[in-house]
Amino acid sequence: MNLQKVTVPEISRRKRDGKKISMLTAYDYPFARILDEAGIDVLLVGDTLGMVVQGLDTTLPVTVDEIVYHLKMVARARTRALVVGDLPFLSYQVSIEEALRNAGRMMKEGGAEAVKLEGGVNVAATIAALTAVDIPVMGHVGLTPQSVHRMGGHKVQGKKRGRAPGGRERLLEDAAAVEEAGAFAVVLEGIPLDLAAEITERLSIPTIGIGAGVRCDGQVLVLHDLLGLFDKFAPKFSKRYVNLKEIVGGAVRQYVSEVESGAFPTDAHSFHSPKVVEKPLALGGRPARSAG
Ligand code: KIV
Repeated sequence: MNLQKVTVPEISRRKRDGKKISMLTAYDYPFARILDEAGIDVLLVGDTLGMVVQGLDTTLPVTVDEIVYHLKMVARARTRALVVGDLPFLSYQVSIEEALRNAGRMMKEGGAEAVKLEGGVNVAATIAALTAVDIPVMGHVGLTPQSVHRMGGHKVQGKKRGRAPGGRERLLEDAAAVEEAGAFAVVLEGIPLDLAAEITERLSIPTIGIGAGVRCDGQVLVLHDLLGLFDKFAPKFSKRYVNLKEIVGGAVRQYVSEVESGAFPTDAHSFHSPKVVEKPLALGGRPARSAG
């Protein structure tokens, strides 16, 4: 495994070298450590934490404070992976000043090496302002979960032609705008495979797909989907590599039954008081005590 630190320029180079980029979301120290040691290239502290960690129905309520809190844990575990912080809903749309301040917090307080934000033409000026002060930006176009209410749900985008938001031509323009504004990579979410392939061919920055087919320059999944820890719904594009919910549930059921039956803890899990050894009476004195 290549143990060299993954950097922003390295991610940009991957496209030229034809080496795919692997990215996963991470929200805490123990999992971030496992992912980093397993060789993942990019750890994204995504606003999906609202859904898979906090149990919300959308990502909209997630705050900058919450992302920073989770970033700190993930950044502490990082040795090799690039850590990216997701700018949550309304942390970058109100003004460029707020975008700069919030993205700055992700780096200064959270330890992120880059930030991600959703949108295309509509956020190009914001991306340009962030990159102008050396805050590397990853774009995100297509199915953008922060636009869930405009889209009428988490729906595949780019199936219809046209330049209205979510239309095929509009998504081509969005991806181009993100690149022109200075983003170093772009997530393509929930779009047809052929559209993702066309965007990937047109752009010189890497595309990282989720529900966008195999012809992207990299792939990203939500960790809890991959591990089988989130079962409210299973996105078609996701792949469950293991069913941790079942494994963890089995372990906990066994623990409950062993506590109830008294099979746990055994002697091996217990502490013992030091042995008290009575020594023979010293002449004229009290018995001496020693711990054995
Ligand atoms: O917030 C997130 O986890 C994301 C990924 C799904 C790309 O944006």
